Amino acid sequence: MPQVTRRTVLTAGVAAAGVVAEPLVAQQAAPAAASAKKSSLQLNVNGKVSSLNIDSRTTLLDVLRDHLHLTGTKKGCDQGQCGACTVIVDGERVLSCLTLAFATQGKRVQTIEGLADPGGKLHPMQQAFIDQDAFQCGYCTPGQIMSAVACVAEGHATTDEDIREYMSGNLCRCGAYPKIVAAIKQARGQMEQG
Ligand code: FES
Ligand code: FES
Repeated sequence: MPQVTRRTVLTAGVAAAGVVAEPLVAQQAAPAAASAKKSSLQLNVNGKVSSLNIDSRTTLLDVLRDHLHLTGTKKGCDQGQCGACTVIVDGERVLSCLTLAFATQGKRVQTIEGLADPGGKLHPMQQAFIDQDAFQCGYCTPGQIMSAVACVAEGHATTDEDIREYMSGNLCRCGAYPKIVAAIKQARGQMEQG
């Protein structure tokens, strides 16, 4: 008669768990797969139109990062609280983590990758962030820059208080705020001239 040890009982238990777990996982996955109906979408990002076939619930942020591989736009909180995902849509800043990609069909989406001119010359706001050393880890920086470009275009960068108020949706965990204000003031002059 085979000897029953603690090891053989445990081994049998793990094997049995594997047999039972597999169908459970499949059953749980089935409804999600069935509800993930895909639809076609044309998206104009940085002047380039892309055709995509995606779940209609996909956010603009996930489309940019996971489908178009434009990873300059960052995912911070993914719930509208940090501003790291800020992009510009038809001239207005939006939080791409709270925006469905389908809501931007027929509009012009601009990301940090589309800010420099085609020859590679940096946008004045990008240059100002470098000149003023307005970042440390850099994670919030693409969102800060996109928001800052729109802030100047909106006419909300006339005073330091205005800049702080209208940039308050963009958080910086490194606390680079004073230098971000300095960068926006530097770029503001050049943007207004050009
Ligand atoms: S990732 Fe969108 S606001 Fe934080
Ligand atoms: S530079 Fe690190 S979060 Fe802003």
